[in-house]
Amino acid sequence: MTKRKIILDCDPGHDDAVAIMMAARHPAIELLGMTIVAGNQTLQKNVRNALNICQHLDLDVKVYAGCDRPLVVEERHAGDIHGQTGLDGPVFQPLIRKTEDKHAVLYIIDELIHADEKITVVAIGPLTNIAMAIRLQPAIIEKIDQLVIMGGSITDGNVTPAAEFNIYADREAARIVFNSGLDIVMCGLDVTRKAACTQQVIDSMAALNNKAGYLFRDMLEVYNRNQNRVFGITAGPLHDPVTIAWLIDSSVLTLKECYVDIETAGYSYGRTNCDFYWKAKKANNARVAVDIDVDRFWQIIRECLSLY
Ligand code: RIB
Ligand code: CA
Repeated sequence: MTKRKIILDCDPGHDDAVAIMMAARHPAIELLGMTIVAGNQTLQKNVRNALNICQHLDLDVKVYAGCDRPLVVEERHAGDIHGQTGLDGPVFQPLIRKTEDKHAVLYIIDELIHADEKITVVAIGPLTNIAMAIRLQPAIIEKIDQLVIMGGSITDGNVTPAAEFNIYADREAARIVFNSGLDIVMCGLDVTRKAACTQQVIDSMAALNNKAGYLFRDMLEVYNRNQNRVFGITAGPLHDPVTIAWLIDSSVLTLKECYVDIETAGYSYGRTNCDFYWKAKKANNARVAVDIDVDRFWQIIRECLSLY
C-alpha cells in the first residue's frame, strides 16, 4: 500500500485530537508534520494540547506553532465546546515535548517546495496558516495534490445561523484558499453532524483497553457534556476525523463538485455559499461532501484506535 503523505494543520480541540490519533498510526498515511493554528483555543493552548497528545501516545511527529490570530478579524475561540484548556477532560503527565523552532507557515512552505512528490494538506481548523503559506509562496499550490478541509456547510452554521466555526473564525483566509485553484475537498457540517458520537460509541472505543481508547473516552465524555449544554444534544458530532476517514477510505463520503464562495459581508459573514447549479456562472472550485456512510466511519475510527 503506498502511503499518502500529509501535513495536518489543526487547532486541538477534541475532534482534532481524534484526527491526530488516526493520521499518526494508520498504515495508509504518512504524517509528515503537524502545524497548529489559533482556533478552538489560543495558539498557545492548542500547541500544548497537540504536544500532550503526541507525548501521551508516544507519537513520533514534529509539531510546529503557526499563526496566533486570524488575518483580519478578531480572534474567536470555542471554549464553550472544548473548554478553557481547549482539551478539557484528559489529565496528562508533565509536558516535556517541545515544538520545532520553525514557524508552521515556513515549515509548510519548505516541506512542499522541497518535496519530490505532491503532498496532501489536511486543514481542520481556521485556514490562517494555509492562506499565509499560499500568499508567501504561491509556488506551493502545484505541490499540493489535494487540500482536504473540515469546514463550511451547505446548509446552516454552528457559530452563527449561516457560518461554520473554522470558516467563520478566519473568513478572509478561507476566501484566499477557496480562490487559490487548489483541489479542495470540503467536509462540512452536512456530513460531520451525522458522525454523532454516542455513549455507545465511546464505550466501544474504551473497550479497546488501550491508551487511545481511554483517551477517546476521557475526551469525548467531556465534549458531549459541553455539546449538550450548548446545543442540547447528547451525541456530539465528531467533525475533524471525517477528513482522515476519507483519506483512508474514500467510499465513506459522497462528494459533489460545485462553486463555493465565502461570504465576507453582512449577517451571513463566513457562510460557504455552495453553488451546485452554476447560478454564479463560476467554475467549480471544490468537491463538497453531501453524504457519509456513518457505519463505515465508526469502523474506520475503531480500526485506527486499535492500532495503539
Ligand atoms: O465547526 C467544527 C470545527 O470547529 C472543528 O474543526 C472543531 O475542531 C472546531 O475547530
Ligand atoms: Ca478543529
